[in-house]
Amino acid sequence: MHDLSELPITERLSLRRFDLHDLDYLCELHADPDVMRYVGGVKDRAQTEEMLRDRVLAYYDANPGLGCWLTLDRATREPIGLHMLNHIRGETHIQVGYVLARPYWGLGYATEMAVALLRYGFVQLRVQQINAITDLPNLGSQHVLTKAGLRRNGERSFPHPIFRGETFAWFERDAEDWLADDRARLSAMPLGMSA
Ligand SMILES: CC(C)(COP(=O)(O)OP(=O)(O)OC[C@H]1O[C@@H](n2cnc3c(N)ncnc32)[C@H](O)[C@@H]1OP(=O)(O)O)[C@@H](O)C(=O)NCCC(=O)NCCS
Repeated sequence: MHDLSELPITERLSLRRFDLHDLDYLCELHADPDVMRYVGGVKDRAQTEEMLRDRVLAYYDANPGLGCWLTLDRATREPIGLHMLNHIRGETHIQVGYVLARPYWGLGYATEMAVALLRYGFVQLRVQQINAITDLPNLGSQHVLTKAGLRRNGERSFPHPIFRGETFAWFERDAEDWLADDRARLSAMPLGMSA
């Protein structure tokens, strides 16, 4: 079993596993049409509970170290949304992803934890390549992925029914390349600042 204490922490954010008590919070997030515009549309309580049980909770023990976690503001301990490092449905590819509640957009939070998750995936879990997909018009998320050091490489579609036969923007980066950039980024930082 992977040591959960190794989940990444950033200057402002931390992650924790979901549990069934988070259903109300997740329902709130899934009911906001702005939040859900590019992640499959709003989900009702039954759909959210099914997702929480089958896709989130059951996934942890089957895939040590990977998952979809609640993202917390370390100062207030309030949830701000979720981040994930998990398999693209039906694929062997590992993806990074995030969904934040609207009050927390535009503060750099998605990027901050995405960078920490990429480092965690490449260093702790030794994943060789990490990917991401976004809806084609989701320019905000595409900008986050580029800032986090992934590279756009065309478009892809996937057979799993959850993807409804649609085409997505495809992002990828190999461990060696990303870690070389990360070392440069860390060494360019003033002393005392964390990434
Ligand atoms: C996408 C999302 C995660 C971004 O979160 P965030 O914390 O605001 O992201 P950050 O603050 O780290 O960075 C956002 C960047 O994108 C830019 N941006 C935002 N909307 C944009 C748009 N429509 N077009 C281009 N750039 C955009 C911002 O200016 C910012 O760039 P900057 O730091 O260079 O100024 C957030 O809006 C969200 O949760 N949306 C709903 C769920 C979702 O779409 N998830 C992604 C699924 S692939």
